[in-house]
Amino acid sequence: MPSTVRTRLRKATHSAHVRLNRNPTLHRLTEADLTLADYVKVVQAYDLFYKRLETRIAQAAPLIDDAFPYVSREKAGWLATDLDKLGIVTPAHPPSAETEWDFGVIDNIGQLAGVLYVIEGSTLGGQIIVRHLGKNLGLTRESGARFFHGYGADTEACWQEFCFWLESLSLQHNQIERAEQAARTLFSKLETLLAAYY
Ligand code: HEM
Repeated sequence: MPSTVRTRLRKATHSAHVRLNRNPTLHRLTEADLTLADYVKVVQAYDLFYKRLETRIAQAAPLIDDAFPYVSREKAGWLATDLDKLGIVTPAHPPSAETEWDFGVIDNIGQLAGVLYVIEGSTLGGQIIVRHLGKNLGLTRESGARFFHGYGADTEACWQEFCFWLESLSLQHNQIERAEQAARTLFSKLETLLAAYY
């Protein structure tokens, strides 16, 4: 198989993905005795994380040639909807210093590609998680699981469209390295934030 940017990124983040799958806060989502309080913790953590990250993406996109048209895929609004449906009215107080989980300024196409790879790829796992949320807590897209529902039946098509963009960039060697680094950093930032919620 030819080494695509996607396969490079998958390889570069494989161990980080395995670690996150085992992260106690996230892993709870797939366990039969999951409680609503456990789930709310994840939504609150993700709400902070995505709000900040999507602001970074929106600030970067106009300054970078060939940026992915991400606006229609923004997910912070989905998390706000979930908090609302779950009856959480008080904004979460960040559990740790923002610098620990904020990705920081995105200022080149490699970084943008790496960051988007992580958040678009995570919608694939979301399809598994949403099934557990339905089974364990009876939640649906409409009743508090909007974020993990993600693109629903369009997930594969959205992922293919994203991968097409990723390869169409024809990134140079150093840009791919920046993408790999950015993807690894983003995984570890999320892990740090989730650890503060455990
Ligand atoms: C318990 C939590 C999670 C589960 C069960 C899970 C599961 C999965 C599954 C089943 C896939 C599809 C693999 C394939 O089709 O080859 C996937 C892909 C992916 N996930 Fe996760 N995931 C989880 C959490 C996350 C998180 C938190 C992130 C990042 C924020 C993430 C990022 C990715 C990425 C980037 C891919 C695409 C990998 C590729 O290039 O094929 N996942 N995940």
